[in-house]
Amino acid sequence: MHIREDDAGAHPAVTPVYQSSAFEADSPYFYSRKNNPNVAELEKVLQTLENAEYAVAVTCGMSAIFMSLEILRSGDTLVVNPFIYGCSYKLLQRISERRGFKLIDLDFSEESNIDKIPADTKMVFFETPTNPFLKTVDVEKVSAHVKRNNPDAVVVVDNTWATPLFQHPLELGADVSLHSGTKYFSGHSDVMNGVLMTNREDLAEEFRETRFYGGMLLSPENAWLTRRSLQTLDIRLKHQQSVCAEMRDFLNQQPQVEKVYYPEIDGKQLKGYAGILFFELKDPDGYIKFRDELKIFNTGTGMACVTSMIAQPWSGSHASMTDDEKRQINIGENLVRLSFGLENPEDLKNDLLSAFKIL
Ligand SMILES: Cc1ncc(COP(=O)(O)O)c(C=O)c1O
Repeated sequence: MHIREDDAGAHPAVTPVYQSSAFEADSPYFYSRKNNPNVAELEKVLQTLENAEYAVAVTCGMSAIFMSLEILRSGDTLVVNPFIYGCSYKLLQRISERRGFKLIDLDFSEESNIDKIPADTKMVFFETPTNPFLKTVDVEKVSAHVKRNNPDAVVVVDNTWATPLFQHPLELGADVSLHSGTKYFSGHSDVMNGVLMTNREDLAEEFRETRFYGGMLLSPENAWLTRRSLQTLDIRLKHQQSVCAEMRDFLNQQPQVEKVYYPEIDGKQLKGYAGILFFELKDPDGYIKFRDELKIFNTGTGMACVTSMIAQPWSGSHASMTDDEKRQINIGENLVRLSFGLENPEDLKNDLLSAFKIL
């Protein structure tokens, strides 16, 4: 029971998985609900990628969002741009109702709406590029406006789709940049994780405490797998970037397509963009027929991984919103999301062409 072959003298080529819930009295890790060497290593890699002072890794993207809301107190005003992942929107609604936050929907990707963010706002929450439609929210302008009125306000950006390779919200005035690392960081549809990044020590401390008391630390295996996947983040995203741009042009030429949505890469806020786009079919009821004809695109829940995937926001990413809420933000049943993986783009085009033929 007491035989040990510790790795102190083993010098492994990569950090092994520290499958240990407890650490001895002289260890800085204490207990695997507080910290673990695999999580600490992953956090160092992520904070370097995003040029952040602190990274706090948790079980998934939703726990990162949940933790960001822990900052708020009853009576606080929370302003959300509703063009975000449907579950994030539902979580904001649900917690606001239960804890007595004043939740305001405002599309501040429209620059003229930034001035309408109320002066007493405690938190703004948004994705940029937006989900869906990939519109830009100006992080610098939103942050400047909110903080001019209330220097204590917290600007939270879900940076999942842009990734640290192409966008650094903290450098533009945001307080928190969070990610569902289940997407590009993992990249292989096989591991969930989330991370909150900040330059503010008070917020990092708050997140670490919430993670400890709430039991949301990432598991050592998931931290290890994510760290391994990050070795290929750059190469995967660059491939996806070139395929996605090619597919945007290809889709724009298809007579069955009403409109293609792709973000504006301004080189200042967004320096590039990887592999997810949206398009609308002209046929309002064509989605299922079209999807069922595809051979290469995977229909599973997820995206931003090595395999190409197709999804319908109406019944997938935004299913937890009511039909009225979806219609209010122009999500129709003909809206399609494609996420491009590492397949040959010619194979993807041929697959799409054969499915377009049946519409
Ligand atoms: C932009 C964005 N944020 C957060 C989440 C939630 O992340 P997770 O599924 O890792 O909890 C998702 C999931 O699709 C997402 O797309």
